[in-house]
Amino acid sequence: MALALKIQDAIERSSWIRKMFEEGARLKALHGPDKVCDFSLGNPDLEPPEKFHQVLGSIISESTPGAHAYMPNAGYEETRAAVASYVSREQGVRVSSEHVVMTCGAAGALNCILKALLDPGEEVIVSAPYFVEYGFYADNHGGQIRVVPTREDFTLNLAAIERAINSKTKVVLINSPNNPSGQVYDRTSLEQLGDLLATSSEKLGRTLYLVSDEPYRKIVYDGFEVPSIFEAYSNSIVATSYSKDVSLPGERLGYLVVHPEADEVEGLLGGLILANRILGFVNAPALMQRVVTHLQGVCVNVEVYQARRDLFYQGLVNAGYEVIKPRGAFYLFPKSPIADEVSFVRSLQEENILVVPGSGFGSPGYFRIAFCVEEKTIETAMPGFARARKRALEKA
Ligand SMILES: Cc1ncc(COP(=O)(O)O)c(C=O)c1O
Repeated sequence: MALALKIQDAIERSSWIRKMFEEGARLKALHGPDKVCDFSLGNPDLEPPEKFHQVLGSIISESTPGAHAYMPNAGYEETRAAVASYVSREQGVRVSSEHVVMTCGAAGALNCILKALLDPGEEVIVSAPYFVEYGFYADNHGGQIRVVPTREDFTLNLAAIERAINSKTKVVLINSPNNPSGQVYDRTSLEQLGDLLATSSEKLGRTLYLVSDEPYRKIVYDGFEVPSIFEAYSNSIVATSYSKDVSLPGERLGYLVVHPEADEVEGLLGGLILANRILGFVNAPALMQRVVTHLQGVCVNVEVYQARRDLFYQGLVNAGYEVIKPRGAFYLFPKSPIADEVSFVRSLQEENILVVPGSGFGSPGYFRIAFCVEEKTIETAMPGFARARKRALEKA
């Protein structure tokens, strides 16, 4: 076969995603799309805020010479300066435009970071449940992930991270608010993580980096705030995007920011900018950079997501599910009523309900619900959730 063995293996390892899509398409064709409650995709359904359309309209109507030309690989200076000023407030640490690299989404940012940091065989510690693409991203750059558990409530398990650190560790990658658990790590645990990385770096005689994947930072509930990673540890890098908070995932725009006091910060930035170029991104999309320059701090109406979270959470609890109430993002990660969650996900499909098995996130025994859907869909699905649970427990 012409296809490289490595990509054949990647296709095989992600085949459950394909199977979910196929089953969803089959059910929708059979019963009609409105009869299928699809909670499988983290694709924001809220339209971008009005300000986005205003800014986009006015930028499109300008005709600036060179507006569509190549640019510095790190992005437009004006955009980086706007991001730096916003991030300085958000992180409570003063950063300037030179610490910002505009990227093709958070995914592009993470790939630049791992390309710039990993030598062959080096490891990235991730806490399960984790975003499934991390394994592929590390592998893209010759590294691999080392998966550690979180605690019962999906908060960081610092003892497990400490045990996992070894001579091959280069990066600890965290994601808060978390996809798929909705958990937000608190300030104390981030400070403890920072201390652990500082002492471990000293013991190992080389720098360990903390990478914080934060595309859901603004999507938090009940007044909860995501603590600053820069205040917790100086060898840290933030990766984020406008995909979730401004609902622009198709536009592929994000950025990374390096802590200004990171070791050898200039060299690190040089590596990150080159990575953006040689990974083939070259630079982040020009038009969108010009747009987001004027959208710093803008976010969709989080109250809409919070109302859905409340409705879904309460419905699941009433139906007898064990589920941690998410503090952020737009996912729920309930415990499967039976140990084999893949088989439980199939019985939800019999109810025309699509969710994703936890095995795909490194946490078998759970399943992920994405609630970027209308409240009506949540209400329609509730009796099916109750029936599927009852059936599964009767059979067990
Ligand atoms: C945790 C996490 N990180 C990164 C990404 C990638 O986001 P982007 O569209 O900005 O590349 C996603 C997308 O679902 C995500 O959930």
